[in-house]
Amino acid sequence: MRKKIVAGNWKMNMDYAEGISLFSEIVNMVRDEQKGEQIAVICAPFIHLNSLSKLGGTTVYIGAQNCHQNESGAYTGETSAKMVKSVGCAYVIIGHSERRQYFAENDQLLAEKTTAALKNNLTPIFCIGETLDERNNGNYFEILKSQITAGTFDLSAEDFSKLVIAYEPVWAIGTGLTASSEQAQEVHAFIRQEIASKYGTEVAENTTILYGGSCNPKNAADLFAQKDIDGGLIGGASLKSRDFVDIVKAFNS
Ligand code: PGA
Repeated sequence: MRKKIVAGNWKMNMDYAEGISLFSEIVNMVRDEQKGEQIAVICAPFIHLNSLSKLGGTTVYIGAQNCHQNESGAYTGETSAKMVKSVGCAYVIIGHSERRQYFAENDQLLAEKTTAALKNNLTPIFCIGETLDERNNGNYFEILKSQITAGTFDLSAEDFSKLVIAYEPVWAIGTGLTASSEQAQEVHAFIRQEIASKYGTEVAENTTILYGGSCNPKNAADLFAQKDIDGGLIGGASLKSRDFVDIVKAFNS
């Protein structure tokens, strides 16, 4: 079912006390101010997941930013999808460009992580996006197609329908350079069309596709008004409660 989602990605920010304080502000503001049916999610570092899940209830859902593909075992420093689920998370980001770039996560591994997340009833937020060179070379559609195909198209239609896809152009992440609404809509329509070719129109129409990359309270309403953009994955602006909640409310403006 296609949903309206604004998911914050805190990345490696917020110690324990800072995280509780920021999240409490967000929950109170969402509870008081949110109108409409959009879903707010915060994807936080592992240390926060347990406490935030309890604080957020059904007002703000919690996600992890990564999970391991195996359930348990000798993988020092890792956290499995099963563990993430056990503290009350509903979502997990898979394949963020920073994981692809700094932790060498490849398509095969991301497909395994996606399967592990689904098996544990987590909703994967599966990220794809092209670099600046790939955009300038004009081959970004091919890159995006290969990322979504290798990462998710081995899933059954039933499993694919449980995913959220996030389009995050790498050149727009943390740079202040947002894709224009037209550039983002063009790619979102392309992604939906690829999903339709693989799984049919009904699955494609029901897939939630988020935009991420320097999304902020000023540009969110215009981005979210595009026909194929169903919300955002928000990095920097999710670290400020006012900005994040204004983005959640941007669906209504
Ligand atoms: P940004 O990050 O909003 O700070 O550009 C988005 C993301 O990386 O998810």
